[in-house]
Amino acid sequence: MISLNVNGRKHAVDVAPETPLLWVIRETLGLTGTKYGCGRALCGACTVLIDGEAVRSCITTVSAVDKKEITTIEGLSANLGHPVQKAWVAEEVPQCGYCQSGQIMQVVALLKKNPNPGDAEIDDAMSGNICRCGTYQRIRKAIHTTAMMLAAGQK
Ligand code: FES
Ligand code: FES
Repeated sequence: MISLNVNGRKHAVDVAPETPLLWVIRETLGLTGTKYGCGRALCGACTVLIDGEAVRSCITTVSAVDKKEITTIEGLSANLGHPVQKAWVAEEVPQCGYCQSGQIMQVVALLKKNPNPGDAEIDDAMSGNICRCGTYQRIRKAIHTTAMMLAAGQK
């Protein structure tokens, strides 16, 4: 049994230690907001937070995150109330939406370290998150919008 702490809830999962975390999140726990894109850490669709850091869950074994704090898109808020989600809605970022939970989790990690990133810092931090629909300009705009919301004290 592996003990996982996902979105503040503890789960004991009976899976092989080398099982990718992404499979456990989606198949065992039924949290399907986190997406499978490439399976090789090349697209960012599977990004989750592990102890606050953005991590590719497709190449992370479940045994590596035993007892760590895992946050998926479902754990950000119950009602799209997280500032990044609010900005995503305000700026109408998604097109097909497939990449967007990974994008949002990457942004949450970025803003935790750097609450007001410039364009170059945004591009650097987001370079591993691919959007086939090309929503990059709206993503960048929504990050600036989130930064303004955070500076204004909105949570
Ligand atoms: S599915 Fe993990 S980075 Fe693409
Ligand atoms: S919104 Fe379609 S892949 Fe990003």
